[in-house]
Amino acid sequence: MPEYCVTGGTGFIAAYIIRSLLEKGDTVRTTVRDPENVKKVGYLLEMKGAHDRLKLMKADLMLWYAYAKTIAEKDAWSVAKESGINLVVVNPSYVVGPLLAPQPTSTLQMILAYVTGAVEEYPNTTVGFVHIDDVVAAHILAMEKKEAAGRLICSSTVAHWSEVIHMLKSKYPSYPYVDKCSSRKGDNNPHSMDSSKILQLGLPPLKTLEQMFDDCITSFQEKGFL
Ligand SMILES: NC(=O)c1ccc[n+]([C@@H]2O[C@H](COP(=O)([O-])OP(=O)(O)OC[C@H]3O[C@@H](n4cnc5c(N)ncnc54)[C@H](OP(=O)(O)O)[C@@H]3O)[C@@H](O)[C@H]2O)c1
Repeated sequence: MPEYCVTGGTGFIAAYIIRSLLEKGDTVRTTVRDPENVKKVGYLLEMKGAHDRLKLMKADLMLWYAYAKTIAEKDAWSVAKESGINLVVVNPSYVVGPLLAPQPTSTLQMILAYVTGAVEEYPNTTVGFVHIDDVVAAHILAMEKKEAAGRLICSSTVAHWSEVIHMLKSKYPSYPYVDKCSSRKGDNNPHSMDSSKILQLGLPPLKTLEQMFDDCITSFQEKGFL
């Protein structure tokens, strides 16, 4: 069976991909910054198949977020070209879905903060949203399909955060949502994202905004965060 490396294994997206690969019988090496931190890595080690097929590797990777992402991807393309590596990149938009780790990280922390009113403002941004299930399926297709190549955008619905909060308020009215939109301008332009390449590779129709947020809120409720 193939062996894959997944970086940042304790992360939201990575942990789901690791679980999916282990379920398929693959062997996975994953990087974490602190393999001894049972609170962070324990749930990975408890996954089915992890005992025999999951290896944790200690690594502190630089160039992680924001602008560094562009540089990192450019570097990856140039290294791949020089070394003849068959690189395929999945570019997901804002990823939403149920919580897998014991604590919400990154994007899920933000959603929780907007629902519980833990922050003063929500961002004045229009972004693409995508279900974690679709992001995992896209990664597996990118790894397994020989014809997968280049950059694969994976995004379902583009919406302004005010639309998301409005949708959530009408479905789950009992929470003390943040209701002030940031006045910062520049990232609120309507746009579209073209996921046709990944759909052509065989990804089923992308899950809707409602499905991804329903799954996310239900998991927050089940895990006692709401
Ligand atoms: N979530 C989204 O909506 C989204 C959308 C598009 C792209 N992405 C990108 O996809 C990747 C994963 O996203 P995610 O939401 O799953 O992230 P996440 O839940 O915040 O997890 C990122 C993981 O990276 C590890 N990490 C952080 N800094 C590191 C460093 N300096 N060296 C090594 N490891 C480090 C952390 O693990 P340890 O602390 O255990 O080491 C953390 O668990 C990120 O590159 C993100 O920018 C995410």
